[in-house]
Amino acid sequence: MNTVSTKAAVGEAHSKLILFGEHAVVYGKPAIAIPFPLRVSSKIEKSIGAIVLKSEIYTGPIKNAPIKMKGISECIKETLRCIRKPFRNLTIEVESSIPIGRGLGSSAAIASAVVKSLFYFYEKKLSREELFRLVQIAETYAHGKPSGIDMAAVTSEGPILFKKEVGAAPLKLGCDLHLVAADTGRVGDTHRAVENVRKKYDLEPEKVKESLDEIESITKRAREALLKGDIDLLGKLMNANHKELITLGVSDEGLNTLTEKARKAGALGAKLTGGGLGGCIIALASSREQGLAISKELIKAGASQSWHFSLVED
Ligand code: PMV
Repeated sequence: MNTVSTKAAVGEAHSKLILFGEHAVVYGKPAIAIPFPLRVSSKIEKSIGAIVLKSEIYTGPIKNAPIKMKGISECIKETLRCIRKPFRNLTIEVESSIPIGRGLGSSAAIASAVVKSLFYFYEKKLSREELFRLVQIAETYAHGKPSGIDMAAVTSEGPILFKKEVGAAPLKLGCDLHLVAADTGRVGDTHRAVENVRKKYDLEPEKVKESLDEIESITKRAREALLKGDIDLLGKLMNANHKELITLGVSDEGLNTLTEKARKAGALGAKLTGGGLGGCIIALASSREQGLAISKELIKAGASQSWHFSLVED
């Protein structure tokens, strides 16, 4: 492939974790998400001919990309249409440290980084609304009808309270949060999990409604606990949220085992994070040191990867 210019532009985004309210957020309830420091970058360079994608899962002309890259291909097409540039003569190189399909927002983060890099490359101004709309295209392919929380979270620098009809509002922390995330090593299935909840709602409307209302109440109490810095209450609320996600049928044995192991290792609370049916858990520790210890225990318990990190009170 010929590179015809040395000009390059890089866009970046981070991943996200849902602390409270996944699934209920699809039904208009509030949810809380935080940035997670795994990052993705997209580099654009000018080339000749069809657009070439370079990534861990596929390298080659965009038109031959595997079906799982349809969302990002459509997002690139619409981005170029929107900035009135041809759908050709570019090389787009994506580098990501975010495991795919684990509820960490990899598809939204990749789309966000790619859109930003295209706007930077062509020196166009990108509004938050436009970024949202373009990332939504990729997300719709990944998730069907996403609530929008992933997009909001990967484009926010701090914790957010998100509601489908309202959007995202920044959330202040009343203390530092020491967190652990651990990967079951199995790809989660957000699409199927969201559909399962929908089917369950049709079959057992009262039971599912009760669970969704309970998650709403947990999320509202969690918001207050975050503001006050009451981490003991926050941990208890994470456990309660996980219980409701089990009732909704989106947890599984691997996720339940890791949450139990995290609690046994001293976590104040633990729950699955994201769509579920595989993917990751999140646990709350009382200190950075304890976070490291829990992270090590989760690897011993079979997690394929584990990360500990802190969110600092602003
Ligand atoms: O992309 P995930 O796996 O983090 O799931 C997003 C959260 C859900 O509430 C399950 C779906 C949605 O669109 O909000």
